[in-house]
Amino acid sequence: MSKLLILLVSLCSVYGVHGQFTDSCTSDVYASIKQCYVTYMAGYNISMTDTIPEYWSFHFVRRDLLDADGLHIQPYVCQLGNALSDCLAPYTCMGPNAYMNMNVPNATEAMDYWIDLAVTQYQCGAGYNLTMTEFYCIAFCRDRYQPNIDQCDAQAAIDIGNGMDPCAAQQKDFDCQATVYRNCCDWNAGVYICNVDMAGSKAVNPACVNAGAIKCPAPR
Ligand SMILES: *[C@@H]1O[C@H](CO)[C@@H](O)[C@H](O)[C@H]1NC(C)=O
Ligand SMILES: *[C@@H]1O[C@H](CO)[C@@H](O)[C@H](O)[C@H]1NC(C)=O
Ligand SMILES: *[C@@H]1O[C@H](CO)[C@@H](O)[C@H](O)[C@H]1NC(C)=O
Repeated sequence: MSKLLILLVSLCSVYGVHGQFTDSCTSDVYASIKQCYVTYMAGYNISMTDTIPEYWSFHFVRRDLLDADGLHIQPYVCQLGNALSDCLAPYTCMGPNAYMNMNVPNATEAMDYWIDLAVTQYQCGAGYNLTMTEFYCIAFCRDRYQPNIDQCDAQAAIDIGNGMDPCAAQQKDFDCQATVYRNCCDWNAGVYICNVDMAGSKAVNPACVNAGAIKCPAPR
């Protein structure tokens, strides 16, 4: 989902939120949020004190674990993810600035972590059964059809550049990706990808999702 991350993060500038996040918590709350991440990273054998790891280095640790151990490590990954969500749940003031407070190198990386949290909440929550049942097929299709998926994101960037409504461009992109996965795996794989994308979109800017301008079909 790296191209998608790039697209979603670039949408921040469309929405005028990039680098000027407005969320804010008290320093006590920031200390508690940091502690949630210290525990979370420890689950991946990553030691953290005040500085959260560079996003992609963390991402690759988790991806390597999933690549090496496959489906049977996914419940552990979700156990860590759900513990993180539970730990953070009281802190409704939280947003991307929390990561700036953990010395993330720049606003892009803060957004990457914020999107990652939202996607984890779908994958390990409402989408958990799909995560488990579609695991290998999605991995196979991602490897095989990555250029097609990247093309969907690239087209959305072009559409937005051409003045298309950003919500409509995202829906078109998510439908495009869902079609790739549906043709490669099955209906539910398309539903799963659409919901992962929608979770990311909502983290960047909830307006499209809240307005009902982005929708995903129900699983079958
Ligand atoms: C963390 O390290 C321990 C001890 O080396 C190892 O057993 C465990 O599998 C590691 N966990 C992860 C998620 O890499
Ligand atoms: C943000 O920081 C990361 C890690 O240092 C770096 O790889 C990336 O290029 C930076 N991005 C921007 C937009 O500065
Ligand atoms: C996941 O599947 C289990 C067992 O079939 C079911 O009880 C549960 O309600 C499902 N959860 C979701 C979120 O659909």
